[in-house]
Amino acid sequence: MTRTPVASRLFEAANLGTLRLPNRLVMAPMSRNRADDDGVPSPIMATYYAQRASAGLIIAEAATPNAVGQTYPNIPAIYNQAHVAGWRQVTDAVRAAGGRIFLQLEHGGRIGHPDTSGLMPIAPSPVPLPDTIFTSSGHLASVVPREMTLDEIGSTVADFASAARNAIDAGFAGVEVHAANGYLIQQFLAQGTNHRTDAYGGSVAGRIRFALEVVQAVGDAIGPERVGLRIAPGVTVNGIREGDTGSIYPALLGALADKGLAYLHVVFADPDQPLFHDIRRIWPGTLIANPVLPWPGPLPADGGRREGERLLAAGADLVALGRAFLANPDLVERLRAGAPLNPVRDRGLMYAGGEIGYTDYPVLAADRDRDRAPEPVAC
Ligand SMILES: Cc1cc2nc3c(=O)[nH]c(=O)nc-3n(C[C@H](O)[C@H](O)[C@H](O)COP(=O)(O)O)c2cc1C
Repeated sequence: MTRTPVASRLFEAANLGTLRLPNRLVMAPMSRNRADDDGVPSPIMATYYAQRASAGLIIAEAATPNAVGQTYPNIPAIYNQAHVAGWRQVTDAVRAAGGRIFLQLEHGGRIGHPDTSGLMPIAPSPVPLPDTIFTSSGHLASVVPREMTLDEIGSTVADFASAARNAIDAGFAGVEVHAANGYLIQQFLAQGTNHRTDAYGGSVAGRIRFALEVVQAVGDAIGPERVGLRIAPGVTVNGIREGDTGSIYPALLGALADKGLAYLHVVFADPDQPLFHDIRRIWPGTLIANPVLPWPGPLPADGGRREGERLLAAGADLVALGRAFLANPDLVERLRAGAPLNPVRDRGLMYAGGEIGYTDYPVLAADRDRDRAPEPVAC
């Protein structure tokens, strides 16, 4: 079958800090729960990420910066030397395949459970997740997190910085601070989860303080040009309720605009929303937009290409796609060739399991071989 190659700004090269990206497609961070029980990345994770090395940039899945920050079972971590060694195999494999890779740092805050981490979760305030949570013992009622002391706030900031140093030691080009999707940093930002009356709560200035301290400490540790920040203004995932989204983000981003960060990454980026344009106005640096395609799916036939182009036209610099990369190791080549995409298989394989539904998605060459395979002969 002949296909017409697609011309698109998505395939133009771009600069990101000191990196030269061959295209503007970013693989969004996606937890796949394939680390061992101690959070050490498994060898198949190296295969999985290396398969996707043609992305302009890979942002590897959320890794926990300390033990109490663990969200779910088999989430990778980045706070000891075994974690560094495990991740080193991943970054070596990606580099050998010609790719570029950042690591996302995520502390779960109230999204955690003693059955998973062995520790009582901590959060800005003792407000539980209004839902069950997936744990090492299956789905359980969430627990009331313990309110963080000022000492714990300080040590958590330090843990993010130390995790970032570990990530660089493990060979990552940089880290992404996860301030989205209802995890610890967004719990500080949001009125619904932050009832503190000290310097880390109350006004917008108080609620953004923790995020600013984390980004500052991580930037001091590894250089701001190697630090990205992920935000999800207004999302309600994981029971988050910000209250004053329109005030939080201009204040947060205004305070970070001149810090020389590698990028800002916005989830649910939508050019039809005024906030997207406000963010573009405030943020002088690289803006990665993640459009969030129909959820839970199926994905559009073009894998998000047109939506990505719309975001570039509206001022984004790079476009992050998640599930399209999950199911298509050679997504860039497929989009460029106008080739059909693999659909995402069984959702149960997203967050668990081994190689099946992980490293066994076919690439175009395999499709071509299959097309050419002789018909089975009955005998
Ligand atoms: C299996 C899976 C795991 C995810 N894990 C993370 C994660 O670790 N960190 C994060 O910030 N977002 C995570 N997300 C959200 C994605 O980064 C992305 O925002 C979402 O999939 C929407 O993009 P898409 O429509 O292109 O898939 C995850 C999504 C999926 C499907």
